[in-house]
Amino acid sequence: MKGMKKMGSINKKPILLVLMSLLLMLALVGCASSQAKEKEPMNTGLDPKEWNSYAFKDKFPLHWESFMKNMVDEKEVKPKNDPSIEPYLPILWNGFGFAVEYNLTRGHTYAFEDQMEVRRITMNPNAISACMSCKTTLFPQMIEEFGYDNAFKLNYHEEAMPWIDKMTEADKGGELGNYGHASVGCSTCHDPVTMDLRISMPQLTLSLENMDPEVMKKQLGFTLDTITQHDMRSLVCAQCHVEYYFDPANDRHTTFPWTQGVRMDNMWDHYEEIWEVEGQFQGEYVSRLTNQPILKAQHPEYELWSYGPHQTVSCSDCHMPYQRVDGKKKISSHRWGSPLKTVEESCRTCHADKSQAYLKDRVKDIQTTHKSALLEAQEISVQATYYVNRMMTRELDPAKIKEAQYLLREGQWFWDIIAAENSKGFHNPQGAMDSFRRSITASSRAIELATIELMKAGENIEELKQQIEITKQNVINETVNHEKHKQAINEWFPNHRGD
Ligand code: HEC
Ligand code: HEC
Ligand code: HEC
Ligand code: HEC
Repeated sequence: MKGMKKMGSINKKPILLVLMSLLLMLALVGCASSQAKEKEPMNTGLDPKEWNSYAFKDKFPLHWESFMKNMVDEKEVKPKNDPSIEPYLPILWNGFGFAVEYNLTRGHTYAFEDQMEVRRITMNPNAISACMSCKTTLFPQMIEEFGYDNAFKLNYHEEAMPWIDKMTEADKGGELGNYGHASVGCSTCHDPVTMDLRISMPQLTLSLENMDPEVMKKQLGFTLDTITQHDMRSLVCAQCHVEYYFDPANDRHTTFPWTQGVRMDNMWDHYEEIWEVEGQFQGEYVSRLTNQPILKAQHPEYELWSYGPHQTVSCSDCHMPYQRVDGKKKISSHRWGSPLKTVEESCRTCHADKSQAYLKDRVKDIQTTHKSALLEAQEISVQATYYVNRMMTRELDPAKIKEAQYLLREGQWFWDIIAAENSKGFHNPQGAMDSFRRSITASSRAIELATIELMKAGENIEELKQQIEITKQNVINETVNHEKHKQAINEWFPNHRGD
């Protein structure tokens, strides 16, 4: 266990936050003015606290038209534990809401509504408002209304939703649906008056502030007072497309595990540091199969991208390319989706020597290799889970069980953090492979340790392997998606969580 010296700084209060936003703004303005000296600062005449995206419609009709495309071409909402995607999630996430339902992403304008409809919110009476901290432009107002200490820990259904409904009521049912005007929107990324890029979500500001400045410089290429416009073109996305947890030691604030850096092993080190410290975050859930607190990762697009081959290319360069609209004018696309639909504008600006087809094929190749490595890492993690389950059933040496459980946790983290990343490896093929390798090493060590102990106790390992195979098939064969997790537990592999 490493020293705890850095953890104290996590308790910073919002006064610093205001300061930081100012710093970021200054850095930004400073840079913008040196780039385009002649430009008049914009003044939209809107309220500086404007949160409603409809307010921007008439002022920016071309951007509005682009933005509205997030509402069309709806992707089918497909569960991620579909046998064709990641079949063993109901085993690996057993005991967590995600094992019940976890859907693929849809457009930004649906973000808020999609969240309200998933079973892990609807079926969970204890869901909290922190879940809204990366879904709605109303979150900063929520902090004002309820106070910084309370805003993240309100009851989702009883306290937060009635207020959200009151605020959104007037514009419900318009072209953005019921909540699209309060979902990810203009004020998330823009100052409503100047339209400068800004960070509106406190969690990013605080997490950067809590980071070691040396590491920030080395890994992200900036310090808090040297952030450029180019950096902002990715930082606006880093408000949400990052790994986070709701810190139980700090009013459930949304927190990024970045104190030691943003790489996958740095984030693991952060979690390892608070592991076993009373009252600190230990995991998102306790596995029913192994009674081990497990870290459930979320979408670290920003982190993985930051050390990949395109780290000098901003998120917006690929995902919001300049597009000619209205015959002549060029604007940044405000339809967020796959750059493979805009290869000409997103990629060929740099890779002019490569054809569209070649570039698409390269992405697919990377993603195919990536997927097979992911499935391999998950497969080994499943084995490790059931081996440890058997050690527990046989009541073997508690010290050995503890050691194996911890390796299991490590193995799970290093595939999970990459599985949660939405580019399927493209943002950083090598970084993803490094993480899978570490996952496989840790899970294999858990299996090895368990095998030795089980054999000492006379366990028939061949039989155990067969039981695992049958159980895996039962999970795959269960056709009712939210029942799959029940197949992961049976007479061979009991629930060890005691519920
Ligand atoms: C306030 C939070 C937030 C910010 C800021 C944000 N996103 Fe998102 N983004 C989301 C959420 C939430 C989803 C998933 C929506 C859903 O599934 O309903 C998403 C989905 C996406 C998708 C997938 C869309 C689809 O159709 O599947 C892309 C691509 C994306 N975001 C890119 C970006 C980029 C690039 C930026 C920065 C310019 C950015 N996002 C900023 C929250 C955010
Ligand atoms: C997820 C973040 C995000 C959201 C949400 C967003 N924008 Fe933008 N917007 C950007 C980025 C990034 C740029 C490029 C800024 C730059 O580097 O100059 C941009 C640029 C602009 C520009 C400058 C001209 C241009 O096309 O580059 C305008 C105007 C604009 N956005 C309007 C809007 C409006 C109106 C909305 C809501 C309907 C909106 N934006 C929502 C991120 C966002
Ligand atoms: C060099 C171009 C490039 C850069 C830079 C880039 N991306 Fe991507 N991104 C892609 C490609 C290509 C995909 C895969 C699209 C596909 O599979 O159809 C992707 C996928 C995604 C997805 C999943 C989209 C979906 O349809 O579900 C999200 C979300 C995303 N990127 C966010 C980001 C964020 C946030 C950043 C910055 C931290 C970023 N990207 C930087 C090219 C890029
Ligand atoms: C702003 C310039 C820029 C844009 C835009 C850009 N790239 Fe790249 N790309 C680069 C550079 C620079 C490298 C080389 C990085 C290196 O050598 O490490 C690279 C490398 C690559 C590689 C090889 C990296 C690897 O993983 O082996 C692929 C494939 C690629 N780009 C595809 C794309 C695709 C697809 C898009 C659009 C979605 C895109 N690029 C957009 C600059 C760009």
